[in-house]
Amino acid sequence: MAAGELSGRRIVLGVSGGIAAYKSAELTRLLGKAGAGVDVVLTEGGARFVTPVTFQALSGNYVWTDLWDPRRPANMAHIDLSRAADAVLVAPASADFLAKLVQGMADDLLTTLCLARPRAGIEGAERDCPLLVAPAMNRQMWENPATQRNIEQLRRDGISVLGPAAGDQACGEIGMGRMLEPEELLEEVVAFFQPKLLAGRRVLITAGPTQEALDPVRVITNLSSGRMGYALARAAQQAGADVTLVSGPVDLAAPRGVARVAVRSALDMHGAVMQRVHGQDFFIAVAAVADYRPAAAQGHKIKKSSAPLSVALAPNPDILAAVAALPDAPFCVGFAAESRNLDEYAEGKRRAKRLPMVVGNLVQDGLGGTDNSIVIYDEAGRHALERAPKEELARKIIAHAAACAGAWRERRGALPGA
Ligand code: PMT
Repeated sequence: MAAGELSGRRIVLGVSGGIAAYKSAELTRLLGKAGAGVDVVLTEGGARFVTPVTFQALSGNYVWTDLWDPRRPANMAHIDLSRAADAVLVAPASADFLAKLVQGMADDLLTTLCLARPRAGIEGAERDCPLLVAPAMNRQMWENPATQRNIEQLRRDGISVLGPAAGDQACGEIGMGRMLEPEELLEEVVAFFQPKLLAGRRVLITAGPTQEALDPVRVITNLSSGRMGYALARAAQQAGADVTLVSGPVDLAAPRGVARVAVRSALDMHGAVMQRVHGQDFFIAVAAVADYRPAAAQGHKIKKSSAPLSVALAPNPDILAAVAALPDAPFCVGFAAESRNLDEYAEGKRRAKRLPMVVGNLVQDGLGGTDNSIVIYDEAGRHALERAPKEELARKIIAHAAACAGAWRERRGALPGA
């Protein structure tokens, strides 16, 4: 994730009584690192697991534990904290805490604050302060019908339930009920704030390099890290899309909530894309696909000799061109990686492949690193974006594609997902 993805946001982090509270110390640090201001509110149970001092040191702010705390004018911490917050996140949310939320109980600072938070639609509410909960408990407690009833009710009440996950539990049992890891919760919070520009849409993305085998140990490949494609997959998923990422070999974890299909060669990538493209609303071709492959891969390791070696190359299929030519083609976004003449070559590729949108970049600006400089080419002309982290550019590319796709669909008539 790019630093500053939560900058300007203020989060109330509620910590109720559960062993997962120790992970919330790390979550506090991560939220702060992402730019958010964090106000921690501990229940009595939460404070038994991790002390207020820990959270105060990590958040750099006072920690709140007492409904009757006199540090606020008029003793209204339960009102003031949520009025200043963009969201309240309770992590861990114990079974007891969730049950209290369902009942609308207000017997300590955190429950009172949750009940009193402003909600859009209520007369006089100036702003919405959404509530997110990250349950954490023993698997029997989680699967108990009482807890499941409570979870259903919380969802109906508009509360976002993050997780839980399955796995080893502190009690020694294995099953559902582990709190999501701090990094996963951070991703959920970042995603929560993204506009859902692609809600209900299906997006297929290629990323990374391909590897073309010369023999069982050697390949022809390139320096693509996959970062740009993975950032787009993450941005599309956070914009509400159902995302499939067909990826060449890279050293990156799949973004949360994205289905990854791992491939090696251009032919593998072509097969994986053509198998999945029908019914997709968007196709974004970010992969640096090898244009050629050795015409005949050797079955055994090529032996060294002093004679020069020539390798015959055969052209690979152009995956993007094949998708764009389909009668039910999705909205296609191509990339153009050039080392010079960006405008001429990128716009040329857009026209040659009849694409509604191409993202052009110079390899010296964007190949391999964390940042990029790009120019978007579409029917309306060129749109240059300032150099920025790939995550930030990815959100802008997704917003641009979402904005162009409606008019493009209308021009094309009845299309999938239109
Ligand atoms: O991975 P990173 O290190 O983050 O670097 C990002 C990037 C520079 C690789 C990326 O931003 C980028 O420009 N990707 C496209 C690379 C490329 O192969 O460009 P191209 O101009 O050769 O290809 C044009 C388009 O056709 C691309 O959308 C490409 O995915 C597609 N293509 C190309 C050849 C082929 N056989 N099949 C294809 O689908």
